[in-house]
Amino acid sequence: MKKLTLALISGGISSEREVSLSSGDQVFEALDKERYDIRRYDPKSDLPRLVQDAPGIDAALIILHGPYGEDGTIQGMLDLLGIPYQGSGVLGSAVAMNKLVSKQLYEKAGIPVPAYIVLQRHDTDVAGTTVERLGLPLVVKPASGGSSIGMSIVREIDRLAAALEKGFEYDDTLILEEFIEGTELTVGVIGNRDLEALPVIEIVPDERYEFFDYEAKYTAGATREICPAPIPDSLAQQAQSYALMAHRALFLEGYSRTDMIAAEKGLFVLETNTIPGMTATSLFPQSAAAAGMSFRQVLDRLIELGMEAHSPEHGKA
Ligand SMILES: Nc1ncnc2c1ncn2[C@@H]1O[C@H](COP(=O)(O)OP(=O)(O)O)[C@@H](O)[C@H]1O
Ligand SMILES: [Mg+2]
Repeated sequence: MKKLTLALISGGISSEREVSLSSGDQVFEALDKERYDIRRYDPKSDLPRLVQDAPGIDAALIILHGPYGEDGTIQGMLDLLGIPYQGSGVLGSAVAMNKLVSKQLYEKAGIPVPAYIVLQRHDTDVAGTTVERLGLPLVVKPASGGSSIGMSIVREIDRLAAALEKGFEYDDTLILEEFIEGTELTVGVIGNRDLEALPVIEIVPDERYEFFDYEAKYTAGATREICPAPIPDSLAQQAQSYALMAHRALFLEGYSRTDMIAAEKGLFVLETNTIPGMTATSLFPQSAAAAGMSFRQVLDRLIELGMEAHSPEHGKA
């Protein structure tokens, strides 16, 4: 078989740059060198070289998180260059990056989400009514963010102003959300037309973390991940079904991973990641492993699905 020339894109300019670079290294290690001739590109410095090399590139693997990576921008550039890539296209990527747009589409699809209020930078005098509607604690998050950056859990009303100020450092639009006490689950899906839900993972952040924050996400050993989650079958099936519904509701392609919280009053969807963490020990590869796919096989599959969905011939009459 002829080797495929693969552009491995990692780094970038979002606040998740460091995570992306280390994921990029691990993906590079794991990729089958017999199968791929791998060229690496960091959008921070290498976009002109990517454009130049484009005619010789068969596929791209985008290992970027957050704005200018997971949000449709690099996907649009690759579309223009005629390079297929793994995962969602421009529309799905942009939609899923925005937690507010995502919520609106989840709601339309009948997927339960925590009660929420939207706050723009110039809205004033919201504290009283917000707390009345959502109760305490409540969660403040930037509408387009990731890795829990700019997020706070507000437990006392006099902490709200500081939480809003912190959130507005990252975005002009904030979501204030009802705090859901429960078990965190995350569910990966993979496929194009035949979409498969992977085994459910339960996330257990160490007690010293208030929630699954940046540190809990990226400090080795700070979080336990149990896959398959030790939950009743009926709950696991519901979680898988919501992950499939969420993937379709947000117009996603190839793969995704949906975060949820299972509470006494039901299962709630928080958000869907279009480029989930991609180190060998990240959540998506772990659940793929539970379904019998090695990290290397997952990467092969994602590239294959991407080439099928985003090849330049795709969609042409
Ligand atoms: N409504 C909520 N109730 C309880 N915990 C929440 C809520 N929203 C977010 N969290 C906590 O914050 C983490 C990150 O939130 P999430 O919406 O998944 O954003 P992201 O992972 O993109 O930063 C979750 O994994 C969870 O621990
Ligand atoms: Mg999340």
